[in-house]
Amino acid sequence: MSVQTVDHFFNPSSKDFIHDPIPTLEKLSSEFPISRFDQWQAWLVTGHENIIKCLLDPRLSTDFNLWEFAPEKKAIKDMDPFEKLMNNNLFFLDRKNHLRLRKLALPAFSPRIMQQMKERFTILVEERFNEIGTPDSFNFAAEIAEIIPTQAIASLVGIPRDKFPIFDSLAYGVVRGINPMLTPEERKDAIKGVPEGLILLNELIDERRKNPGDDFLSTLILAEDQGSKLSNLEMCALVGAVLGAGSDTAVDLHSYLIKTLLQHPDQLDELKNDESLVQGAISETLRYESSGKTGLARYASEDIELNGHEIKKGQMVQLITSTAGMDPKIYENPRKFDIRRDHDKSISFGQGPHYCIGVTLVRSQTEVMLKELFKRFPNLSLGNEIIYDYDHHNARRMDVMTVQTNLN
Ligand code: HEM
Repeated sequence: MSVQTVDHFFNPSSKDFIHDPIPTLEKLSSEFPISRFDQWQAWLVTGHENIIKCLLDPRLSTDFNLWEFAPEKKAIKDMDPFEKLMNNNLFFLDRKNHLRLRKLALPAFSPRIMQQMKERFTILVEERFNEIGTPDSFNFAAEIAEIIPTQAIASLVGIPRDKFPIFDSLAYGVVRGINPMLTPEERKDAIKGVPEGLILLNELIDERRKNPGDDFLSTLILAEDQGSKLSNLEMCALVGAVLGAGSDTAVDLHSYLIKTLLQHPDQLDELKNDESLVQGAISETLRYESSGKTGLARYASEDIELNGHEIKKGQMVQLITSTAGMDPKIYENPRKFDIRRDHDKSISFGQGPHYCIGVTLVRSQTEVMLKELFKRFPNLSLGNEIIYDYDHHNARRMDVMTVQTNLN
């Protein structure tokens, strides 16, 4: 089968795509179920059914080292602290190690710990809104969306309040350090806070080893599977993975949820009258305003035939999950934002062995934030300033999104 390329119209870094990706996503999924995107040296897979097929195919791995262009893997003794973290990151492990680590990590995301977290988020969010006070307008993107997700993870890990800045630098390093577009100097600068963050984490782990409680870190320490336990490095890498996966994604969810609701006042009114619709609004925002510029990366561990195309061993496949949300076979009238939709088939949090481990956590922090926002500012409206970070490496990030509080 002849291979089509999409470089002539697909440019996820362009302003057009960042402002409104829907036309491009529709074109991709209706005309290009499987194509090549030379800019990324990758195959693109689009549409709900094709993406699920790939997510469940064990021959398509998350192990970056399988990639035909991956740099040669360093010996562990030659790795810096950041590289060691990445080497143990849940996302990139081979199948066997991934399964072991995920099994040991899961109890730390139990309903009991998630309930504890909801109570802590409530306090965190109230404190944040107290700091904001009652201005006429504020930058929601910078003052809420950028802050709550990392604080939520800090609080999950049990970082004391006065150490949040150290944790912030660790988060910054983990999230920015993986950007492949950085020069060596930029990367060095991005990850400079990692060693101090790791010292802090190791101190906390050692402290919990001596005095275990019923919190997240203690649960990781006590987790055991057939005699196997997590090492300090594996726990730090898990926190790194949680930061990498759970801060940027949640930042965009917070911003786009509020932006989209304020742009659809009928839907916002429905939500205010029936709070049980909050989770539907979150799912719908992830579908309608999917914020990623890239997809989920997979690497072929052997030659694979995919809908008549031959994917060679070592090639990269990018699963463009945002196209699944626009798939008319799954969602009727996909251009309509409708918080009452059925999201049973949603793959916004993935599917299969790498399904998002933080889904309950992010749903709960977002719900707490949303309720507190409209409790404080019941007449909130969108301000007239939105500024995108066009250079963000993987998200349609808004740096500025002002809101009017309309208190008087
Ligand atoms: C809106 C917010 C979020 C979205 C849209 C999201 C989405 C996803 C998706 C699509 C995957 C699967 C990746 C793949 O198959 O390659 C994933 C995995 C993961 N997520 Fe999330 N996520 C979010 C928030 C979070 C949060 C808050 C945490 C942690 C507290 C988290 C932790 C993880 C981890 C550790 C994995 C890797 C799981 C594994 O490899 O076994 N995520 N997430």
